[in-house]
Amino acid sequence: MLKVGVFGVGHLGKYHLNNWKEIEGVKLVGFYDPNEANAKEVAAHYGLKRFTDPDKLVESCDAVDIVAPTNFHFELCERAIRKGKHVFVEKPLANTIEEGKKLVEMVREANIKMQVGHVERFNPAYLAVKDMQLNPMFIEVHRLAQFNPRGTEVSVILDLMIHDIDIILSLVPSDVKQISASGVAVMTETPDIANVRIEFNNGCVANLTSSRISMKKMRKMRMFQKDAYLGIDFLDKKTEIIRLAGEADKGAFQFDLETPAGKKTIAVANPQIEDGNAIKMELESFVDSIINNKPTAVTEIDGYLAMEVAHQILDKIGNTNLAV
Ligand SMILES: NC(=O)c1ccc[n+]([C@@H]2O[C@H](COP(=O)([O-])OP(=O)(O)OC[C@H]3O[C@@H](n4cnc5c(N)ncnc54)[C@H](O)[C@@H]3O)[C@@H](O)[C@H]2O)c1
Repeated sequence: MLKVGVFGVGHLGKYHLNNWKEIEGVKLVGFYDPNEANAKEVAAHYGLKRFTDPDKLVESCDAVDIVAPTNFHFELCERAIRKGKHVFVEKPLANTIEEGKKLVEMVREANIKMQVGHVERFNPAYLAVKDMQLNPMFIEVHRLAQFNPRGTEVSVILDLMIHDIDIILSLVPSDVKQISASGVAVMTETPDIANVRIEFNNGCVANLTSSRISMKKMRKMRMFQKDAYLGIDFLDKKTEIIRLAGEADKGAFQFDLETPAGKKTIAVANPQIEDGNAIKMELESFVDSIINNKPTAVTEIDGYLAMEVAHQILDKIGNTNLAV
């Protein structure tokens, strides 16, 4: 049995507890959360041991799951890595670039597994297309949320946009060439809404909009490549592919277009989306990496690279006001 302890049992931490309880081969040892009222409620509701000394929890585990606010990620990761424990840490990996760099180095030296909670990598709508031959040249993303004070200890870039930054970095096989960005702090001390253009050395351009002060929720990514358009709806879990019809499109809806180069047949496909619990899948994948000594699905380096782009964006916006 892999012994797991959870640090931080607030909004997301409770989802993690529910999922850990269902994962085979895992024994949930207990949790640490400094919020008295919340900790008492969780201990009673889940029948789970509450640790009041974080080091004691680390010592009782093989792996820790860090779901505390971002400004505590570094110190909690450090405690666990120094004792040779595997770490699952929520996104973003850390608060500052220096912290992120140190964590990458510490993980390498300790030779432990670390996975960062970029959960959209396990979103069924993304899984439906991720193994296709993707070579996007233009990406348009909208991630909009209603205002919620949770998560506002960091900017909308580190809170929401970082999900899309991570997905884009995993899809575009090229380095970032240039970033332009604009953002506005409306409800908090850091940007609540931002628009960013990332240009890659291979010519791909990504245009990202993130807001945490919208009236409606939206999480859509649209990608254009030489022969295809792909739409991924992370919220409604739908995927659409429109492309020049080929062998793989038999059975898909098709129509013809007259173009200056002659008639072209277009296929419209909506791949079957497997219903899946992305949080459970990411935690299971972490366990699998530990048991079978495989690289994690979202490594500390992936987490760091997403942070690095996020901080370049913050520098461009001129607001480096980080967690308080
Ligand atoms: N992957 C995602 O889609 C996603 C979604 C939401 C939140 N998150 C991340 O999860 C983390 C937590 O977010 P949340 O929405 O659950 O916040 P939350 O405020 O609801 O919960 C955080 C909990 O951590 C506890 N805590 C504070 N300091 C602590 C410490 N030193 N050690 C242990 N626990 C501590 C708090 O008492 C609270 O109960 C953040 O890093 C956030 O970015 C990720």
